[in-house]
Amino acid sequence: MKHLISIDDIGPDDRAALFQVADKLIHPTTILKKDMGGKILANVFYEPSTRTSTSFHSAMIKLGGQVIAINEINYSSVAKGENIEDTIKTIGCYSDLIVLRTKNAGDAAKAAEVSSVPIINAGDGNGEHPTQTLLDLYTIYKTKKTLQGLNIVFAGDIDNSRTIHSLAKVVDKNNKVVYCDTYSDLSPHLPTADVLYMTRVQRERGSEGTYQFTKQHAKVINKECIIMHPFPRNEELPQWVDSLPNSVYFKQIQNGLYIRMALLLTYKGEY
Ligand code: CP
Repeated sequence: MKHLISIDDIGPDDRAALFQVADKLIHPTTILKKDMGGKILANVFYEPSTRTSTSFHSAMIKLGGQVIAINEINYSSVAKGENIEDTIKTIGCYSDLIVLRTKNAGDAAKAAEVSSVPIINAGDGNGEHPTQTLLDLYTIYKTKKTLQGLNIVFAGDIDNSRTIHSLAKVVDKNNKVVYCDTYSDLSPHLPTADVLYMTRVQRERGSEGTYQFTKQHAKVINKECIIMHPFPRNEELPQWVDSLPNSVYFKQIQNGLYIRMALLLTYKGEY
């Protein structure tokens, strides 16, 4: 059984194969509506989510499967003190695959140890978010046509961003990567950047500081630089930035559907 806990669990060849499947899924006529027929995905979220939970839900429905959606875990027996191991063992009795978001780094690995069905880590605290990384890589590849030799600027909550932690593991090797935290000036990095990857300040995890993409930044940014953000966004990314040709974050969000559909299809053989 294959769990996806860390981006390390899916190597370059498997990622490339996944992107090829995602390419095909962009065109609705190629969607195989019955591929997940009779299969049940459990979406188990101990932390709030819009994109990850909804895109997995949509992906499963589009592939003909069904979804048990537990988006508010506090209405489950977790509210009565049930531990994650018992919760996962129980939900595994009723589903074929579990997409799991947890509050603490390491919880997804803990769940995988006891699970009878594959676990896909949908974000474990400030640990990792591997499926976000897959859609981020796919977005970079689709826009820049390469995943190597790029100048990538990670901005914002470097310490607590699980999306940065996972993505950096892959892009650190073959690209020039700069980390620009909430106390540092973005401006010097923007004229040469190919990718600006912004994140919000996760105050719920104790992060401090503040930063924002400004009109001055818009003047100096490389016109070929793409602006990415995993969302949700806060003050760091004002809505006026949406109209810049550099901004690809809604395309990034859309790509989450194709990538998660492709990923679900790879699990077909695991049931
Ligand atoms: N990017 C991301 O994980 O968004 P959600 O928290 O809305 O799922």
